[in-house]
Amino acid sequence: MLGLIATLALFTLHVQTGRAACECGYIDSQGHVWREALIANFTQPAGALAALQNDWYISNWDIPQGSNKVIRYTPNNVFQHNDALGIKVSGYSGSGPVSSGEVYTLRSDIQYGTFRMRAAVPSVPGVVFGFFTYISGTQEQDIEFLSSDTDYYQTVHYTNQPGLLNGDIDPDATKDVVVPGADFTAFGEHRIDWLPTASKYFYNQAQTATITKNVPTTSSRIILNVWSNGDSLFSKGPPTADSIATVQWVQLYFNSTSLAEPAFQTACANAGNIPKCII
Ligand SMILES: *[C@@H]1O[C@H](CO)[C@@H](O)[C@H](O)[C@H]1NC(C)=O
Ligand SMILES: *[C@@H]1O[C@H](CO)[C@@H](O)[C@H](O)[C@H]1NC(C)=O
Repeated sequence: MLGLIATLALFTLHVQTGRAACECGYIDSQGHVWREALIANFTQPAGALAALQNDWYISNWDIPQGSNKVIRYTPNNVFQHNDALGIKVSGYSGSGPVSSGEVYTLRSDIQYGTFRMRAAVPSVPGVVFGFFTYISGTQEQDIEFLSSDTDYYQTVHYTNQPGLLNGDIDPDATKDVVVPGADFTAFGEHRIDWLPTASKYFYNQAQTATITKNVPTTSSRIILNVWSNGDSLFSKGPPTADSIATVQWVQLYFNSTSLAEPAFQTACANAGNIPKCII
C-alpha cells in the first residue's frame, strides 16, 4: 500500500514536472521571450493528422477569385504523406474549382512570436505554398513559394500585406529573395519573427529579410496552405499533376492576448521560477 502511494506520488510529480517544464516561457536565439507554445509534430508515431487534432482547423469551403478559378479548400487535400503532413493542389481536370488544401490555428489571439515550420516545397508548377500570419488582408505577414518561379527551389517571397501601393508592388512591403545554392525541395526551416517594429524572415536560422512596413498590430491566426487560381501572373497553373508541400513540423512560440504578463508571471512563480526553455 505504501509502495503504491509512493509510486502514485512519484507519477504525479513526474506529470506535474512535465506540464510545468516551460511555465516560465521560452527564450530564442535573438533574446526574445515568449510565453506560450503550440507544437505540431507531423512525424509523430500517431501520424500527421492526429497532430492537427487539438489546435488546427482544416479548411472546407470555396473562395471565389473574380475572373480566375475558384479555390476549393477540401479536407481531402490535407493528408498523411510519407512520414509527414501533405498539403496539395490536385492535378487539374480542366474545368471547375481548383482542389486545394489549408490548415489554420484555432487560436486567433496570437500577437507577436516566432513561427517556424520544417517543410519541403511543391515542385509541380502552378501553385502557391504559403506559411503566414493572418487576421485580415491588411494584417498579414506572408512567406510564399511559387512553384512556377524559374528557380522556385531557391526563391521565396516575403510580404507584409498590403503588398501593393497604388496598384504597383510596394518594395518596402514585399521582398523577393533568392538564396543562392538553396534547395527548398529538401526539408528546411522557414520562419517569421513577428515583433512590434519589424517582421524578420529566416531560412535555416539565417535571416533573409526584414520588413518594417505594414507590420501587423492585431492578434492573428497562423495558416499553411497550397492553392492555385490559375491567374497568369502569380500562382499560374492550375498544376497538371498533384503539387504537394510536405511539412514535418510547425513550432509556434508566441505571446497572446489571452495570457497577459501578470498571469504569466504568476504561473511562472507557481512553477518555482524555473529557467526559460531555450528554443
Ligand atoms: C517528432 O516525433 C518523432 C517521433 O516520436 C521524434 O523522433 C522527433 O524528434 C519529433 N520531432 C520534433 C521536432 O519534436
Ligand atoms: C512577450 O512576453 C514576454 C514575457 O511576458 C515579454 O517579456 C515580452 O516583452 C513580450 N514580447 C512582446 C513582443 O510583446
